[in-house]
Amino acid sequence: ELGDYEHYMLKEIFEQPNALRNCLRGRAEQREGRIVLGGLADHARDLVKARRFILTGQGTAWHAALVGDYLMEDLAKVVTEATYASEFRYRNPIVEEGTVVVAISQSGETADTLAALREAKERGAMALGLINVVGSTIARETDAGIYLHAGPEIGVASTKAFTCQLAALTMLSVYVGRKKFMGQGQTQEVIDALCAVPDQLDVVLKTSEQVRDIAAKFVDRENWLFLGRGYHYPVALEGALKLKEISYIHAEGMPAAEIKHGPIALINDGMPVVFIATQGLQYDKVISNIEVVRARGGKIIAVATEGDTNIGRYSDDVIYIPHTIEPIQPLLSVVPLQLMAYHAAVLRGCNVDKPRNLAKSVTVE
Ligand code: BG6
Repeated sequence: ELGDYEHYMLKEIFEQPNALRNCLRGRAEQREGRIVLGGLADHARDLVKARRFILTGQGTAWHAALVGDYLMEDLAKVVTEATYASEFRYRNPIVEEGTVVVAISQSGETADTLAALREAKERGAMALGLINVVGSTIARETDAGIYLHAGPEIGVASTKAFTCQLAALTMLSVYVGRKKFMGQGQTQEVIDALCAVPDQLDVVLKTSEQVRDIAAKFVDRENWLFLGRGYHYPVALEGALKLKEISYIHAEGMPAAEIKHGPIALINDGMPVVFIATQGLQYDKVISNIEVVRARGGKIIAVATEGDTNIGRYSDDVIYIPHTIEPIQPLLSVVPLQLMAYHAAVLRGCNVDKPRNLAKSVTVE
């Protein structure tokens, strides 16, 4: 079943273009410029009237929720909050009328996420699921949802489920947004960008050997930072989590602006600092964050937009990804970070598919 791949994780990273094609098929209708979500059709009116969305999950799925928070507010213009399922469940949450809770989970069995979903339903929320495993417990307990169609994910570190979660959240945002304020022009722009992702990912995956060489340079360093702004802040968290869980390197991810409020004290000579520095609204701000880190001896690994001739002056290594609009960028920018974690773990002799202390799905709270 592994075919030519040495590990499931690598296979699943490379399956992402096809996983996304399957996730988007019949839903992101490029020619008609619309999103068709059969699983939500019976609830379309309630979704349009919804006053608040709560996106919830654990681990990588929580990072998808964080990206979803930006997507929903940016595209659907509806108040949205991303929250750890484990925290939501026990904080006596306020669930007003018109609240939709969206449970995000690859397995559909994560106990924390299931408990949050039940709590929200109990308090009157409508329950949606973004789930990969068909017929799983969470999927069965939701009112409606979008199956991810990522295919079976065996590697413990979630990869293709994450990018499909981002695609599903983008489709949900456009689906809701289009019924409210989103014009046809913007709708078409986002759908076109989303539909271009599978082919663009084929290009991103070609960086694998370059990423391995970069990983080899820094693999003996025990502390890494991952920094990004806006849509890339959750990607920074995800890059750090991937590295932690399979290579056992200590890594932290955070919004790039946050380092100056404390974590900058960590930076010492030669510390690898990964910046997601793609072109967009906050590009100049990211560059100034890079300069601050570099001045203190940090080694800059930048994920940047193809054709950016400026970034090389500020970075020790640059991994280029194709251009796309900002809401879609996380789908591309996360992949070099998945590859970085994979190669670092292999170089350190770690068991990539079965990392110590971890299970594919955690069914205790
Ligand atoms: C963790 C896994 O225990 O559960 C993570 O190690 C995963 O990779 C998280 O993101 C949530 O799992 P699921 O199945 O709910 O997406």
